[in-house]
Amino acid sequence: MKTIITSALVLGLSLSFSVSAVADDDAMMQAAGKELFNKCSACHSLDSSKNAFGPDLSGVVGRKAASLPRFAYSEALQKSDITWTEANLRKWIAGNDQFVPGTRMRHVEITDKAEQDYLIAYLKTL
Ligand code: HEC
Repeated sequence: MKTIITSALVLGLSLSFSVSAVADDDAMMQAAGKELFNKCSACHSLDSSKNAFGPDLSGVVGRKAASLPRFAYSEALQKSDITWTEANLRKWIAGNDQFVPGTRMRHVEITDKAEQDYLIAYLKTL
């Protein structure tokens, strides 16, 4: 009986630990992503009332590519028929001009899987 109680306690404890670890992980990833977003923010303003060189990225995860009405996208991106799923965002930030040849966005290359994770975690918060 004593071992059952002890193991239940240990299980309960480790469960609550892992839940808070996941929450910390999210915050950590978003913070790291925010840092990486410095490579993007010169062109992508987070203030949608501002006209930036690149389109507003708030709500971009899950959005159809080239779908903002007030932005002059390249023909290449307009014809791409891409939806910004996580997988497609990964390809885009790993090498946007290989993924969509003819895009107007200057070449970016973030190939590190962890860095891609961070950036996408951050993009989800926008
Ligand atoms: C030098 C300016 C510049 C930089 C730096 C830049 N972008 Fe862009 N971005 C653009 C432009 C311009 C477009 C529109 C491309 C087109 O129409 O072909 C774009 C488009 C996008 C899109 C598609 C949005 C849509 O509405 O379909 C995403 C996603 C994106 N950028 C993410 C990023 C991320 C993430 C970074 C940083 C790693 C980044 N960009 C860095 C200029 C930039």
